[in-house]
Amino acid sequence: MNEPPPRDDSLAARPAGSLRVVIHAAVARNDVIGHEGGMPWQLATDLRRFKALTMGKPVIMGRRTFESLGRTLPGRLNIVVTRDRSLAAGGAEIVYSLEDAFALAAVRARCMAGVPDEVCVIGGGMIYAQAIDVADSLCITHVEARPNGDAWFPPIDPAVWKVETTAHQPAGPGDSHAAVYTVYGRRDAVPEEGAAAG
Ligand SMILES: NC(=O)c1ccc[n+]([C@@H]2O[C@H](COP(=O)([O-])OP(=O)(O)OC[C@H]3O[C@@H](n4cnc5c(N)ncnc54)[C@H](OP(=O)(O)O)[C@@H]3O)[C@@H](O)[C@H]2O)c1
Repeated sequence: MNEPPPRDDSLAARPAGSLRVVIHAAVARNDVIGHEGGMPWQLATDLRRFKALTMGKPVIMGRRTFESLGRTLPGRLNIVVTRDRSLAAGGAEIVYSLEDAFALAAVRARCMAGVPDEVCVIGGGMIYAQAIDVADSLCITHVEARPNGDAWFPPIDPAVWKVETTAHQPAGPGDSHAAVYTVYGRRDAVPEEGAAAG
């Protein structure tokens, strides 16, 4: 059996210091996450869940995702990644690399109410593709759909990621599709101190 290579546990592999890096994404069965700057579904139930899971935490997003939202997400530290030195985004922190986004989240989280212990990476495709290698956890809403799209989630390698929890969510009012909420953890994760053995 091929074992996944052990993850480098150096500081370089912990980009946000003591903060866990958690990716949040809604992903169709064909890996599509977006189409023409928006999302190819309506998922009111998932948006409520996303809000609850990210509230009070730093959130990191790419410039295109920020533009598609059209505003900052209230109650969260909004960090927008761009290479455009002239970009101004009222209410959001602008950084020019993903590394700087993690570093800023780590510093600012210490002063945030409740002192969050994780930073949320919320898209889009370009940012997910870069962040998945340093993420500790993937919080994925698998959308029961196969839409056309132009932005995708990167492959979730089963040699690297294992399913920790999964829950079926039937389509409710305001939902165009059913979904499955799945949390993935790293197979090589070091157990937290105090966690039950076995
Ligand atoms: N389904 C979901 O959960 C979900 C979540 C979020 C977004 N989306 C969808 O995904 C789509 C957007 O995704 P996308 O891949 O097109 O764009 P994106 O990842 O949101 O943003 C890409 C932009 O981020 C900046 N960027 C990326 N990497 C960078 C780096 N290393 N350093 C500095 N800047 C960097 C660049 O901005 P500049 O061009 O300004 O330099 C780049 O053009 C939309 O359709 C959106 O609705 C879906």
